[in-house]
Amino acid sequence: MKKWRLIFAILLLLIVVTYWQGGADMLHKKTATPYELEEPALFFKMTHPANNPLTAEGTELGRHLFYDPILSLDSSISCSTCHLQALAFTDGKAFSHGIYGRSGKRSAPSLVNIGYHYKGLFWDSRSSSLEEQAVHPIEDPLEMGNSWPTVVKRLQEHPFYPTMFKAAFGIKKDSINQAWITRALSQFQRTIISSDSKYDRVIEGTASFTAEEHRGMTIFFDASEELPFSECGHCHTDPLFTHLKLENNGIDKEGDPNRDKGKGALTGHSFDNGQFKVPTLRNIALTAPYMHDGRFKTLNEVVDHYASGGHPGPNVSPNVRPLTLSQKDKQALIAFLNTLTDSTLLYNETLSNPF
Ligand code: HEC
Ligand code: HEC
Repeated sequence: MKKWRLIFAILLLLIVVTYWQGGADMLHKKTATPYELEEPALFFKMTHPANNPLTAEGTELGRHLFYDPILSLDSSISCSTCHLQALAFTDGKAFSHGIYGRSGKRSAPSLVNIGYHYKGLFWDSRSSSLEEQAVHPIEDPLEMGNSWPTVVKRLQEHPFYPTMFKAAFGIKKDSINQAWITRALSQFQRTIISSDSKYDRVIEGTASFTAEEHRGMTIFFDASEELPFSECGHCHTDPLFTHLKLENNGIDKEGDPNRDKGKGALTGHSFDNGQFKVPTLRNIALTAPYMHDGRFKTLNEVVDHYASGGHPGPNVSPNVRPLTLSQKDKQALIAFLNTLTDSTLLYNETLSNPF
């Protein structure tokens, strides 16, 4: 008889432990509403971490957190201060400004279609996922300058966040932590999709290019032997207009001590010097100034850089070389780049400030 009691007690214990560990996930499935992301037909499918599926409540919580300065030490800066919807989630500055006007070291990249960037985040790709990336701006002294325990405490004691965390993840106030916060921020960022530019409509067959835009596209993708090649499409590949890998596009002289070494600063390997993640060109007309340090103010300057071939060096991609573009070709390239602007993104209410 005693033996049976013991077995029963062990079984009970097992059930309790299993429920306790999986409890959050079970509640999560019960309470939160799955969110069906509308993905552009031409894009490959976005992948989501198994422990962070998109839900309506999770995305909504993430949107609140993204726009809330509560995450910064002095409550003055939110993610959106440097990633503004009106500028395709950039900030229009060469170097972003964090708390107390502190200047950062690089330019804020656009967050459009960021959920598709599975090869790494940041200009040097040092971060492997949105969940991991979101840890950093909050504690970066040049950005939000806060500490995670402070952020967690503020949210646990907040009048409405505990209810939102419960709805999104089925967790109690005391369980709000860094992992759940970064999951919510990531869910929201995965909904920042941009695919309604004139270019997309031409591909769909519902709009048409002017002769100049068409010429620009042909040059961009090296699509005709009759026009000069520009090599742009090797790195800024369709449909994201980035192949998501790192490249050296020859903007700096090899060995210049003042330059940002990009991936080289991270690894210490000289062959990584000057390697930066290829940025998307979607909405490029809205995201000046250009490059990781905002050195070029206009697209004219950018195109002049590529036309000249930049600074040659052992790490520079063979696709960056002196081009034979006429003034007319350069203007056509810029006209094409201007067709990559998606104005619906700028007014999409599901992506805008909820406060
Ligand atoms: C003070 C300005 C600033 C704030 C605030 C800020 N960011 Fe950024 N963000 C940047 C800069 C600058 C970079 C590029 C840094 C680098 O690559 O070294 C960046 C990079 C990123 C990237 C990587 C983009 C890519 O193309 O790889 C993501 C994602 C991102 N930020 C999300 C966020 C989120 C989420 C928040 C809020 C928790 C936030 N940012 C707050 C300036 C800011
Ligand atoms: C070998 C790959 C490669 C080729 C070819 C290439 N780019 Fe780039 N492009 C990059 C990289 C890498 C960066 C970011 C470099 C940096 O910031 O240090 C970049 C940055 C840019 C930017 C700035 C984007 C931003 O958000 O700041 C524009 C605009 C641009 N390229 C347009 C073009 C055009 C137009 C062409 C063709 C004339 C072209 N690129 C060819 C790799 C390439």
